[in-house]
Amino acid sequence: MSFHSMWAELLPVGRSSASGGYRRFAWTDADADCRAWFEDQARARGLAHEVDRNGNQWAWLGDPAARDAVVTGSHLDSVPDGGAFDGPLGVVSAFAALDELRGRDARLTRPLAIVNFGDEEGARFGLACVGSRLTAGQLTRAQAHLLTDGEGVTLPRAMEAAGYDPDAIGPDPERLARIGAFVELHVEQGRALDLSGDRVGLASAIWPHGRWRFDFRGEANHAGTTRLADRHDPMLSYAETVLAARREAELAGAVATFGKVAVEPNGVNAVPSLVRGWLDSRAEDQTRLDTVVGGIEKAARSHADAHGIDLDVVRESFTPVVEFDHALRDELARILGTDTDLTVPVLGTGAGHDAGILSGSIPTAMLFVRNPTGVSHSPAESASEDDCVAGVLALADVLEGLACR
Ligand code: GLV
Ligand code: MN
Ligand code: MN
Repeated sequence: MSFHSMWAELLPVGRSSASGGYRRFAWTDADADCRAWFEDQARARGLAHEVDRNGNQWAWLGDPAARDAVVTGSHLDSVPDGGAFDGPLGVVSAFAALDELRGRDARLTRPLAIVNFGDEEGARFGLACVGSRLTAGQLTRAQAHLLTDGEGVTLPRAMEAAGYDPDAIGPDPERLARIGAFVELHVEQGRALDLSGDRVGLASAIWPHGRWRFDFRGEANHAGTTRLADRHDPMLSYAETVLAARREAELAGAVATFGKVAVEPNGVNAVPSLVRGWLDSRAEDQTRLDTVVGGIEKAARSHADAHGIDLDVVRESFTPVVEFDHALRDELARILGTDTDLTVPVLGTGAGHDAGILSGSIPTAMLFVRNPTGVSHSPAESASEDDCVAGVLALADVLEGLACR
């Protein structure tokens, strides 16, 4: 099956007709449809399909138990109203690259696998990269069991309802020990390749990043009869905090975003009792990130204290800076430069990836495919089909260079 037909087959799955964006959240029906698609692709190619203890899907060519495997793939879940490319491009390209290798009659000397990591975006349970974090031992079973979605459904309940065993989840060092290299292809989530005029690039590093929950508690009251002077309105402290986030990020050359907010009781004619906002902040280095988040929290506290609002700040997740394996990156650059005599651009990114999580355990690398607008986490995310095919060929070259030597 060509890249084009695989892409067309996956395109309608989990797409909202209202927004045109994707709602492929972990352990939902849309997620199950994506997983069924993955399994079909594996079986159609005669690959051995397996689901690991953490719900990640694998398709193996060669002996899964042999060591030094080369693994590629990404994720199929999405953010709320996400684009088509973030995640699926890496998985579809992996199957297409395998077809290309077979077309070249390449002789593999190492096992090769394609992976679909579960719950990469963390859209439902608030923590990103749950499948790879569990596998790498960066999230314990007990911690994962406490994750709860916006409807009050816990992660173990959701896994169970989808037919998986939540008591089996946990670190998987034996699996990781069998992998010699993981290469994730991903749509670029910025415009560096568009500006440099390149179709494909390599990743250098991922910025340190995290998510913090700010709970502002005030007093619910009547919107018509409560004098302004008598209110304890947590929305005002929240609003000040959003503006502080922008200021602090600008000062530090970092980014800070309040993209999710919950209000109680959420009535148009009631002063809220609670405003809960989630901050996502990222910076090139840890010191800057600490400065930004510290500055935002200080501004939030000072406003809250002055207006009789209680404030709790909880860090819900954190991923330190990731430097991708230099030797693997140099090898990829050499492989990709051989045919073209071109230097492949090497880019840093503010986006998180399973490859970043796994980089603490195994050598990992990433390939980026040009995104002409740089837009991501939105239905407007895009890449031309020609660039996607260039990405598939680059990935095939990389897999051939690594697994057929
Ligand atoms: C994942 O895409 C993230 O960077 O949040
Ligand atoms: Mn994403
Ligand atoms: Mn992604």
